[in-house]
Amino acid sequence: MANIMLCSCIVFFVALCSDVMANPHCKGVKGAYYPSWAFSTFPPSSIDTSLFTHIYYAFLVPNNTTFKFDIDDETSKLLFNFTSTLRSSVKTLFSVGGGGEGPARFSRMASTSVSRLSFIKSSIEVARKYRFDGFDLDWEFPQNKKDMENFAILLDEWRVEVKKESLATKRPQLLITAAVYFSVDFFLWGEFRSYPVPSINKNLDWINLMFYDYRGSWDTSATGAQAALFDTKSNVSTSYGLSTWIKAGALRSKLIMGLPLYGRTWKLKDPNVDGIGAPAVGVGPGDEGTLTYREIEKFNEENNAKVVYDSATVSAYSVAGTSWIGFDDTNSVAMKLHYAQSQRLRGYFFWAVAGDKDWKISTTAKQSWIIS
Ligand SMILES: *[C@@H]1O[C@H](CO)[C@@H](O)[C@H](O)[C@H]1NC(C)=O
Ligand SMILES: *[C@@H]1O[C@H](CO)[C@@H](O)[C@H](O)[C@H]1NC(C)=O
Ligand SMILES: *[C@@H]1O[C@H](CO)[C@@H](O)[C@H](O)[C@H]1NC(C)=O
Ligand SMILES: *[C@@H]1O[C@H](CO)[C@@H](O)[C@H](O)[C@H]1NC(C)=O
Repeated sequence: MANIMLCSCIVFFVALCSDVMANPHCKGVKGAYYPSWAFSTFPPSSIDTSLFTHIYYAFLVPNNTTFKFDIDDETSKLLFNFTSTLRSSVKTLFSVGGGGEGPARFSRMASTSVSRLSFIKSSIEVARKYRFDGFDLDWEFPQNKKDMENFAILLDEWRVEVKKESLATKRPQLLITAAVYFSVDFFLWGEFRSYPVPSINKNLDWINLMFYDYRGSWDTSATGAQAALFDTKSNVSTSYGLSTWIKAGALRSKLIMGLPLYGRTWKLKDPNVDGIGAPAVGVGPGDEGTLTYREIEKFNEENNAKVVYDSATVSAYSVAGTSWIGFDDTNSVAMKLHYAQSQRLRGYFFWAVAGDKDWKISTTAKQSWIIS
């Protein structure tokens, strides 16, 4: 039985590899974001580059009025340190924006051709000056239909300029990627709006699907799996989000599965009622109820926590007294990556690389990714 299953798997993956061969860009992407604010404790040289293909420097933000990147001396040093340390082993990109930045600046930048061109030209200059292989737009999030239209135009113009620059300099085109919401549609809050899939397919090398932050400190009434693969009771899950992208026509070869190297915590109402969805009264340990995987391992060990794998959501949680932590462990990551491959996705990425413990999760991920 095991042999038969193995055989069908191999046949399946060989068939896939012919797709991969037809498309030189089809090689599996194993990405991770690098949190630049962790430089002093986690310099770029601490990354085990054998586990990754692409590392994103997080973050740069353009000037609020000129939409150019004003890079101060300290940042300049970090950028050079980042690329000179990593670029011989992996591709490097710089990510623009981030969850802490908010949407307003990008909305204004994308709204006129002058501001878009200023941003685009500056992004190319920065990439070449600091020897990056490309850039990643992390606009969290376009707020309305107009923003989505402008997002599409921005991507069109960005690709045009990147092509022009490549022709003029005879260098490979810079990569353009974006970090996006878990679902193609924003159906939970604000104006209903959808990402411009045709422009994404045409202009971006790939998109990083942020398959996490489904539950957290903003709702302390019950515990939850912040990166559930499946949820029978709601549409806030990775399998649902992915299905919306595919249904909307996103090319599977452009889709990268996001995985969190952090978890989210709650304070249980009753330490004896501790499953997923158990009543809670507040956040648990960590800054605003978040802990990196490394911190979770430490917490679990020091507090002799009970650790449970939940196959329904494909996630793990740990409990010690009233402290409850939901996170991804090696099992959930392996399962998710089997799922990603069965869905013929291009690869995966982590937020964020400094959160791993002894490279346990990243190693499991690499070993689980069988396609090229
Ligand atoms: C943005 O650019 C303008 C014009 O160059 C400059 O006056 C302003 O100080 C810059 N803003 C920041 C935050 O650096
Ligand atoms: C950016 O500029 C806008 C309008 O010019 C202004 O309302 C906003 O406060 C500025 N934000 C920052 C962070 O400087
Ligand atoms: C980068 O910074 C680290 C930590 O300060 C230092 O040890 C290393 O030599 C630097 N590398 C480069 C290539 O500048
Ligand atoms: C999930 O989304 C589908 C449409 O994609 C909808 O029919 C269904 O009612 C939604 N389920 C829930 C629980 O919201």
